[in-house]
Amino acid sequence: MVTRRIVELLRNGQPDESVTIQGWVRTKRELKDFSFMEVNDGSSLANLQVVLDASLPDYEQLLKKINTGASVEVSGTLVASVGKGQTIELKADSAQVYGEADPETYPLQKKRHSFEFLRNISHLRSRTNTLGAVFRVRNACAAAIHQFFQDRGFLWIHSPIITASDCEGAGELFTVTSLDLNKIPKTPQGEVDYSQDFFGKPAYLTVSGQLQAEVMAMAFQNVYTFGPTFRAENSNTSRHLAEFWMVEPEMAFCDLEGDQNLAEEFLKYMFQYVLDRCPEDMEFFNKWVDQTVLATADNIINNEFERITYTEAINLLEKADKKFEFPVQWGIDLQSEHERYLAEELFKKPLIVTNYPKEIKAFYMRLNDDGKTVAAMDVLAPKIGEIIGGSQREERFAVLEERIQALDMETDSLWWYLDLRRYGTVPHAGFGLGFERIVQFMTGMGNIRDVIPFPRTPLSADF
Ligand code: 4AD
Ligand code: MG
Repeated sequence: MVTRRIVELLRNGQPDESVTIQGWVRTKRELKDFSFMEVNDGSSLANLQVVLDASLPDYEQLLKKINTGASVEVSGTLVASVGKGQTIELKADSAQVYGEADPETYPLQKKRHSFEFLRNISHLRSRTNTLGAVFRVRNACAAAIHQFFQDRGFLWIHSPIITASDCEGAGELFTVTSLDLNKIPKTPQGEVDYSQDFFGKPAYLTVSGQLQAEVMAMAFQNVYTFGPTFRAENSNTSRHLAEFWMVEPEMAFCDLEGDQNLAEEFLKYMFQYVLDRCPEDMEFFNKWVDQTVLATADNIINNEFERITYTEAINLLEKADKKFEFPVQWGIDLQSEHERYLAEELFKKPLIVTNYPKEIKAFYMRLNDDGKTVAAMDVLAPKIGEIIGGSQREERFAVLEERIQALDMETDSLWWYLDLRRYGTVPHAGFGLGFERIVQFMTGMGNIRDVIPFPRTPLSADF
């Protein structure tokens, strides 16, 4: 018999249908002549109620093995349920326990566990309601990304994990080191020279796939990357990971305005997609995690984002009747308290801030005519702060070369990047969306460690 998924049975299952399900026991209730168990198979928040009649073979033995966490397969007939909140249940003809879970030691007994506790058992936490819902929404977000870009003719390109360039120039690179230290060249002082480690050259884990996306955009016009990126920043905050996923579209023949338009359309699309695909999960978050989740989604989908320049943002912050920890003045990098004030308190919706001072932004951003600012944009979201960072890129060879030199960067390792400006250059723009930050924003989850299955932070990278 074909095994069915519970989500589909709860939607379409008809009384008298014969079905088989497989999953994990959430709860068991023993009565006199029969027992109930709730089974979850990860396909939805909802469990399927299974009725185990005392007439089943080896009933007593079976019941002993059926405990929270045990894996089971049940075959039987669907019947209309009189229970609250469900239309059907499964009357078992046969049930088999694959693996038991000792109630004395299994950590996920039926009660509410703190996210902190669950972080210490990341190999089991996906079996809880909240983390289950998070990872289904995460999956829907990933599907939305591909659907959105594929529908618009963007090519998905695979940017490398190992790279020689520090795209953001922030020096937050993890070095790639071979395990055989004897093979790594030595410095004149005889010490292992890690900067020579990748077969005699330096190599790092990528902080962004943008530079390679630019290469591909110069052949295919519109492309996107979607993959893991790494930052060696020692930030133990609820919004930073050492390994996170980023989506980076890059568009040839596009300016900063086109970039902003795409970012806004993209975010609206993702919210709608997830609301359509995961309505129960989203309602769950709204009920149990953050009561503003559905209102936020509605706000994103139905309102235009605010758009202001950095200079206007500074003026607004200076006028704010609020004391910031970090003093406001033209030239500062906006801190999370500033970003959150603007998005959360002032505009109460996402806003796009453009044209930042060139000193606080990366080398590749296009210099504006004022000579002071660059064509950068950050999308700031309530509760999260920066969710997207992007820009129009400097496509003029001479201006880019001058900028690279002014920053004392090594032109040697960027010769290929300059070549893109030497041959067939065009105005182009793109952005990077922090994938975990959007999942956080969508679900209302407070800590970024709880929206990625295996978080890597300065404090943890267990397995
Ligand atoms: O603003 P960032 O550093 O921009 C770039 O990397 C550009 N190369 C993107 C581009 O234009 N193609 O990072 C982009 C986004 C941020 O807005 C944030 O959402 C996320 O990546 N991000 C992080 N997410 C989790 N943990 C971290 N440590 C992050 N650092 C950045
Ligand atoms: Mg940024």
